[in-house]
Amino acid sequence: MSEHTQVEMTEMKYGKDRPKAKHELKIEDISLRDGHQSLFATRGRTEDMIPVAEKMDEIGFWAVEVWGGATFDAMHRFLGEDPWERLRTLKRYFKKTPFSMLLRGQNLVGYRNYADDVAKLFVKKTVDNGLEVFRTFDALNDYRNFETVVPVIKECGAHFQGCICYTLTEPRIGGDVYNLEYYIQKAKDLEDMGADSICVKDMAGLLAPYDAYKLIKALKDNVKPLIHLHSHFTSGMSPMTHFKAIEAGVDIIDTCLTPYAYRTSHAALEPFVMSLLGTNRDTGFDINALADINEILEREVMPKYKHLLDDTKVSGIDINVLLHQTPGGMLSNLVNQLRDMDALDKMDEVLKELPRVRKELGQIPLVTPTSQIVGIQTVNNVLFDTPEERYKMVTAQVKDLCYGLYGKTSVPIDPEVQKKALKGYERGEEPITCRPAEVLEPELENAKKEIGDLAVDDEDLILYALFPVTGKKYLLQKYGKEQVPESLKPITMEEVEKQKRLVEKARKGELFEKDKLKEGPEKSEYTRTFNVFVEGDYFEVGVDEVGGAPVITYAAPVAAPVAAAPAPVAPVPQAAPAPAPAAPAPEAKKAPAPVESAGTPVTAPMPGMVIKYEKNVGDSVNEGETVVVIEAMKMENALPAPTSGVIKAVNYKSGDSVAKGEVLAVIE
Ligand code: CO
Repeated sequence: MSEHTQVEMTEMKYGKDRPKAKHELKIEDISLRDGHQSLFATRGRTEDMIPVAEKMDEIGFWAVEVWGGATFDAMHRFLGEDPWERLRTLKRYFKKTPFSMLLRGQNLVGYRNYADDVAKLFVKKTVDNGLEVFRTFDALNDYRNFETVVPVIKECGAHFQGCICYTLTEPRIGGDVYNLEYYIQKAKDLEDMGADSICVKDMAGLLAPYDAYKLIKALKDNVKPLIHLHSHFTSGMSPMTHFKAIEAGVDIIDTCLTPYAYRTSHAALEPFVMSLLGTNRDTGFDINALADINEILEREVMPKYKHLLDDTKVSGIDINVLLHQTPGGMLSNLVNQLRDMDALDKMDEVLKELPRVRKELGQIPLVTPTSQIVGIQTVNNVLFDTPEERYKMVTAQVKDLCYGLYGKTSVPIDPEVQKKALKGYERGEEPITCRPAEVLEPELENAKKEIGDLAVDDEDLILYALFPVTGKKYLLQKYGKEQVPESLKPITMEEVEKQKRLVEKARKGELFEKDKLKEGPEKSEYTRTFNVFVEGDYFEVGVDEVGGAPVITYAAPVAAPVAAAPAPVAPVPQAAPAPAPAAPAPEAKKAPAPVESAGTPVTAPMPGMVIKYEKNVGDSVNEGETVVVIEAMKMENALPAPTSGVIKAVNYKSGDSVAKGEVLAVIE
């Protein structure tokens, strides 16, 4: 054997009381955050975590990840739950195991950089509510975006885990940008910042086994903090990758309990426990105790979520990740967006354009939110560019990136693209080089004024500061000023059982239809509904499509703050697509009838939500000037005037949803 392996067989004792391994492998369980974020679009409810919480607390995990990432957003928006309450509730059951969260650096748990005052209060309140380990990352690996949160994490006595987002430009580690030296340097930077541990965050499942060996070994040789590996299963490599990382001496790995594992999630824990039994890396975990937890989850919890699993594919592995080195979630977002625009046939072009756009935008890692930024801009380029002109429709987020608002890119942004993007940009045409949050005004006082008494404590205030539109809506529900919509309420096991019985009956051919027209609700013109009638009971199954294409209709018609990124359309799964059925059923809301008018229309090139009109009726406008900004797939798109003239009609208002092709304004 040429290579020394650090996994050695030691004691051949398998019982619960077997002796502690020499270099025990530590495990962070991430079922209750990344697991259900990856598989069930973050729809896991607190009440479904409680049945296993005390048993999980007994296993001996290094930490359990229960918060952060998309949970904060998805909980208040789709589950009618207070995210802070989850921490407090779970803390009553997890008495020994530390809580970990995923913190998006200065983006906190949102999709843009927040001002320092928000960031500081957020970290402080998070510790107050029971959080101990802050897994902190920045999409650009620009650690200046850690400078505000890290001192607060440290002051509060919490654990600062610094992340290195793992990304590639070649099929394997190496090349000019993301080579071994890059990762070692990043680890040293984190060590200098006082990292208690360092996590390699492989959100797309790109890390190949032998690269993992090289990488982990290099990190162990060069820095002192504990080394932690987070590698998604998406491409199918992760169990092998983890194993090579274990051989290279990785200290901690992330796994999920089996029902939350695989697909776009993570490797399952139980096979590791068994594989390492009796070695110097033995986890020491009791496999029977884990089996008990699995049993409860399978019986009492998973049936309520099964319908959210993306079952469009038989394969559990996304081969595209191996082919294109592109996060699985990003690809499915692209497919959804192209479908919205009736342009699915352009997928090949998009995949070809993507590496070019990424390179022009500074070869940035592809992780929330940069994967969306690069992806959507690529789609815009493919759909709207002409042979004479590229980057015809630049999203607001690409403008922000070019300005330096996300941080420093790995290589400089293409100067021509940057110049074009920043032409007429509201903050200035000269990009900044300082820490991004330095140009942000404090936000808390304003937020306080806006939300007033509706925010009872700092936790409420933060919710509103991070998500002004949906956060306010939630607070109105929380304090009984607005009813909680039916769509936010949980599915009960009784309902699941009822549905199961129906399916069984249907399989046996015992279902019959009765009084269909009398008992069923009226179908709207666009509803694709399957009505099932069993004796006296009426059931409805199906997906509601409005206007033949998904139209975002649930955002409250409240003006989004101008400088802020708009409230996103749906939580961005870090590496996983939001399975379509998990999207809220659109409330069929009638769009105002477009005003009949002669003149040149400004039409929506894609379905989306109106953010703001830059021009109003009576304003004169020059060709190419922005008339209206719409949000699609979480990105803002400024729509230019197709001709010069005077605005004659404005057909929508901020917050309205529009379908592709609708006339937003008329110029005469
Ligand atoms: Co992840």
